[in-house]
Amino acid sequence: MKELQTLTPEQFTLFERLIYRKTGIRMQAGKITLLSNRIRRRLRHHGLQSFEEYYTLLTAESLKGELDEFIDAVTTNETYFFRTEGHFDWFSGPFLNELTARAHAKQHPRTLKVWSAACSSGEEVYSLAICLAEARAKLAGWQLRILGTDISGSSLEAAREGCYEGRSLENVSPERLEKHFQPSDDGWSVRPSVRTPCEFRAHNLLQPLGETGFDAIFVRNVMIYFDRESKKVAVGHLLNALAPGGYLVVGPADGIFDLLGGMERVSSFLYRKPLSTSQASPPPSAGGHR
Ligand SMILES: C[S@@+](CC[C@H](N)C(=O)[O-])C[C@H]1O[C@@H](n2cnc3c(N)ncnc32)[C@H](O)[C@@H]1O
Repeated sequence: MKELQTLTPEQFTLFERLIYRKTGIRMQAGKITLLSNRIRRRLRHHGLQSFEEYYTLLTAESLKGELDEFIDAVTTNETYFFRTEGHFDWFSGPFLNELTARAHAKQHPRTLKVWSAACSSGEEVYSLAICLAEARAKLAGWQLRILGTDISGSSLEAAREGCYEGRSLENVSPERLEKHFQPSDDGWSVRPSVRTPCEFRAHNLLQPLGETGFDAIFVRNVMIYFDRESKKVAVGHLLNALAPGGYLVVGPADGIFDLLGGMERVSSFLYRKPLSTSQASPPPSAGGHR
């Protein structure tokens, strides 16, 4: 196979548009070398000779399952346990205290539903599950559920596997490692007791989830890659999925603050849906994407 160069600007535009249509991610022209390298690996995998040939087969869906592989190859999946620790301090402390107090006052059922949207390989989901495991006494008899979703199939596979090492675990204290993980062949495996409330499912943020009533939604470090139109669509779906009084936890650079008009701003990373719908102005339209 002859050595392929980088994508031409025209080829870059074709792939960039495809990525945008499928994921909402906008790739800047400066990423041409990165994108070329990632696509070249897919070409080698299929023994193909040109970017055009790959694009044609990809868009005609002639390579079984390749669209998913392509999306896997072009998304950025970096994540680690207890990323932005303050968010988890809020979850373990003020959030659980408020929810359990509301349940005590019969204003909330003894159920807790959390959605980790764009969870990558699961570290965010299991960080939340560890917080719940540590609050076990307070949550005795509660029905707990943490849903982790992502567009990337290989990330979800890793999440279901639940084995981690290296950088992923840097923010996990030795006490937590000992308590919530067990040694495995390839690192540290999340203990079954921590996994119990966790479930993983493929989902594209540009589509509705088909489930509502979440007490908290973590959606962090994903919309940073979206343009305004994609952010608007995704935010509309996320706000629809939140229960009245539910919280949205956002990443520091996601840039969606101006789309959260109907929400109460609690802090720089935290927004709350009003308890009564009459208090809220409508969320941004969750209409079609392109
Ligand atoms: C940088 S990771 C963030 C992971 C985690 N939320 C965190 O903050 O550590 C971004 C994730 O967003 C996912 N993603 C990108 N576009 C998406 C979309 N349209 N729908 C769902 N997930 C998407 C990628 O596959 C990737 O796993």
